[in-house]
Amino acid sequence: MLHLHLTAIIVAVILFIAVYGMYKKNNTRDNKAAFITHMVLRVFYLIVLFSGLMVYVGNMEGISNSGGHMTYGIKVLLGILTIGFMEMAIVRLKKNSAKATVLMVICLAVIIATVIMGATLPLGMLSF
Ligand code: HEM
Repeated sequence: MLHLHLTAIIVAVILFIAVYGMYKKNNTRDNKAAFITHMVLRVFYLIVLFSGLMVYVGNMEGISNSGGHMTYGIKVLLGILTIGFMEMAIVRLKKNSAKATVLMVICLAVIIATVIMGATLPLGMLSF
């Protein structure tokens, strides 16, 4: 499940950059390619969410035994926030809102924080 989580995250981030670039070029209603890519991105949000929850629930016992409730809780919260900010950044750009750049910066910060946290937690590739 962790492999699915990681693969889905990588695909989602690539799609996010693609959708962002496409709407940046043309954010009118007739940008069908951007609309379809955005829909595919939304499917990947669900895969990231589902696989993350499965890893969390599947390792509940180990998490309890290691006393890692708090850190895992924060990881899950950061993950959900990341998905929320990714979607908000795109929708604001699509609507030509002045807040689009601010949201993009917040979004990048939460993505980086979530990746660092996930990778350094016990199951992550960077944990010791
Ligand atoms: C776009 C949002 C997300 C990003 C960028 C992200 C990033 C990561 C990364 C990089 C890892 C480490 C994977 C590895 O090293 O093999 C990870 C692990 C994990 N993620 Fe996420 N994640 C996101 C969303 C979520 C969500 C929504 C949940 C839960 C609902 C979640 C729960 C977990 C759990 C439980 C782990 C295992 C932690 C460990 O290493 O022990 N993640 N995540």
